Amino acid sequence: MNKSFYVTTAIDYVNGEPHLGHAYEKIVADVMVRVRRGLGEQAFYLTGLDEHGQKVQQAAETEGLEPQAYCDRLSQVWRRFAQSLGLANDDFIRTTDERHRRTVTAILNRLHAEDHFYRDTYRGYYSTKQETFLTERDQGPDGKFDPIYGEVTELEEDNWYFRLGRHQQWLLEYIEANPDFVYPDFRRNEVLGLLRSGKLEDLCISRPRTRLKWGIPLPFDPEFVTYVWFDALVNYASVPAGKGDPTLEVLGISEDPSSSCSLWPADIHVIGKDILKFHAVYWPIMLRAAGLPLPRQICVHGWWQKDGEKMSKSIGNIVDPITVIDKWGLDAFRFYLVRELDIGADGNWTDQGFYSRYSAELANGLGNLVNRSLAMLQRYRQGVVPTAGKSDNEDDSTLETKTVQVVEEAIDRFKRNRLQGALQSIWSLIEAANKYIDRTAPFKLAKQSDQAQRLDEILYRLTDIVRVLAILIWPIIPATAERIFEQLGKGGKPLVIADALDNRLSAGHQVNKPEPLFPRRDP
Ligand code: ME8
Ligand code: MG
Repeated sequence: MNKSFYVTTAIDYVNGEPHLGHAYEKIVADVMVRVRRGLGEQAFYLTGLDEHGQKVQQAAETEGLEPQAYCDRLSQVWRRFAQSLGLANDDFIRTTDERHRRTVTAILNRLHAEDHFYRDTYRGYYSTKQETFLTERDQGPDGKFDPIYGEVTELEEDNWYFRLGRHQQWLLEYIEANPDFVYPDFRRNEVLGLLRSGKLEDLCISRPRTRLKWGIPLPFDPEFVTYVWFDALVNYASVPAGKGDPTLEVLGISEDPSSSCSLWPADIHVIGKDILKFHAVYWPIMLRAAGLPLPRQICVHGWWQKDGEKMSKSIGNIVDPITVIDKWGLDAFRFYLVRELDIGADGNWTDQGFYSRYSAELANGLGNLVNRSLAMLQRYRQGVVPTAGKSDNEDDSTLETKTVQVVEEAIDRFKRNRLQGALQSIWSLIEAANKYIDRTAPFKLAKQSDQAQRLDEILYRLTDIVRVLAILIWPIIPATAERIFEQLGKGGKPLVIADALDNRLSAGHQVNKPEPLFPRRDP
């Protein structure tokens, strides 16, 4: 059984509101999965929801609902959100799923049996907002805690702790030896710095039931539920485990032993910068302690701002993905996010920036190239693809060399998470093709009866470039790519990246009438 390329996103807090940052992360992961499928690999895409913890319990209470009913309702909103983004996800995990509860329980039992946990009394500060314990080190010089922690209370309570110190050394060596484990490099250095700078403190993995009921009970001590982060991280394993993944068989939770699904270890966990420590420190330690293989890569993206400010309800500057999509179309939205922000850096949404890229790169760039190429083919050849001819024209060979180079470069960048770079590369081909039209001036040749063969050569190359472009852009803007294939009168979808330089158009093929892909419009 071949292992599928397995990509995950962070699971969003069910009580939050879907926003630009969530959309970005899910689209980035979606592009990665589509690239692998385009390359002929089997790929599996998991996203979902984080539903336990104090904040959810409180939010449900405020609305007078049972937490489960509250989560069920909100999960519908998030599922619809995933659909609106055009995600090709294969599953949608909720941490209230039975398969997840069983996986968390199995991992807790394994770690407990191996003496990774101990029970102890804690006295100190606690932030309900962040669901985390704080120490004096988190206090400012004035004795106050950062406002991000909300109200901080002092408490004394028993809890269960995970001995992390034992794991610090191997993890440090592992990350040193595996440069791709955390991407990009500056985030890897952040983790290395953290691991080198001092002893890892033990992680509290429980909350007393007296304080928090909405969680997965600790199987070995019913007075407690599992800390929401320990619970949440396990989601990445719950789905494969439930599907009978042989690598996770030791957990013994397969719902369907006959299924043959090999996903673990995950190839890429796509996450935001704020949850790096959980993914690059706690999660690998949890897995190694349970005797399970580590994910291959933690891919860390930056955060979006709006007009240089943090997006927040109180400022009222939240970019609502659905509003943008309704107005400009899904593909314009997907394109802008991936083109504007390289994975790793922080991004800044401006309406002006969005509009500029829409008009320059989509309407006047890609849209115009496709439209004028196919329109000329209609006008001069009734939409019938002519013979390519064996041209030794320099413009032709330049364009052909450029095409091969862009296809190879784009694939390479796609595979190395350089999604923005892949788009830059693809758009350089669009530019080259638009220049080719200007230089070869087919509209002039059409008026010269002795230039019919030269016109054939040019129209062939332009039409075929349109086909290549559809294939290259499919992972990012699949609907547009598919529309181009329809306009080309191609059956099937532009799904096979290997076809980009192969399977070229044949002479005599009839293409359809072009329709504008990205109508020019005012902001
Ligand atoms: O952290 N720009 O959930 P979450 C870009 N449930 N990304 C952003 C962002 C922004 N402005 N705001 C948030 C959680 N994100 C946990 C995860 S995983 C086992 C559990 C990203 O709903 C954020 O970095 O607060 C995270 O990766 C994701 O959205 C979900 O955030
Ligand atoms: Mg958050």
